[in-house]
Amino acid sequence: MKLIYEGKAKRLYETDQANEVLIEFKDDATAFNGAKKASFASKGKINKTLSVLLYKMLEKEGVPTHFLRDEGDVTIVARRVDIVKIELVVRNVVAGSLAKRTGLPEGHKLRQPIIETYYKDDALGDPMVTDEHIRELNLARPDELEKIKRSGLKVNQILTKFFAKAGLILVDFKLEYGRLLPSMHNIVLADEITPDTCRLWDEKTGAKMDKDRFRQDLGDLIEGYNEILTRVQHALES
Ligand code: C5P
Repeated sequence: MKLIYEGKAKRLYETDQANEVLIEFKDDATAFNGAKKASFASKGKINKTLSVLLYKMLEKEGVPTHFLRDEGDVTIVARRVDIVKIELVVRNVVAGSLAKRTGLPEGHKLRQPIIETYYKDDALGDPMVTDEHIRELNLARPDELEKIKRSGLKVNQILTKFFAKAGLILVDFKLEYGRLLPSMHNIVLADEITPDTCRLWDEKTGAKMDKDRFRQDLGDLIEGYNEILTRVQHALES
């Protein structure tokens, strides 16, 4: 299989279908733009499983995604997209860079969800960008940006409610979108939704179950990820 692209947490391969790609979830974890690195056995499998469950649920709720089918332990088949070079962050509770930027205390519940846009560019360190920067850099057309933001808020509503059923607070998360190839007319949710890209806290204890365990050396990463997966599976069954 021909490797198209290798990212920090995933590899993309060509398939025999021109408009499909195989996505492999790696065990590797990175933080601080690649400055901190480690590998965790079974992270790829847990993240693949979670991403598939969440994408299937979002599709059912009317959110188009790149997901096509599950293809084994650590791989899925997805629609081929042209990735929009914007990372959309949606926040419900103050944490991470929002606490640093605003001085608001971690854990402060936001009156309304906050949406932020970042320029997906490793060399620049993924800086935050405004709509005007996005326009100047040609990262997305205004109508695409509008669609992406609207979708992000809808995803937030669906996931916040769902994770609450699982006893988890969805603090914040990052989404990426892509233009479906070959026409590039339709924007779909791409990339992944996993504890690598979401902050999830235990509703009762406030314990961090996500990649902050690795970023902040808070304890066993896989234990947290497995707990999220178990709770998500139970919430889907109930
Ligand atoms: O670091 P920050 O507080 O801005 O992160 C906000 C949310 O976006 C977190 O859930 C984090 O895991 C996610 N994120 C990500 N990839 C990035 C930056 C942030 O998944 N490159």
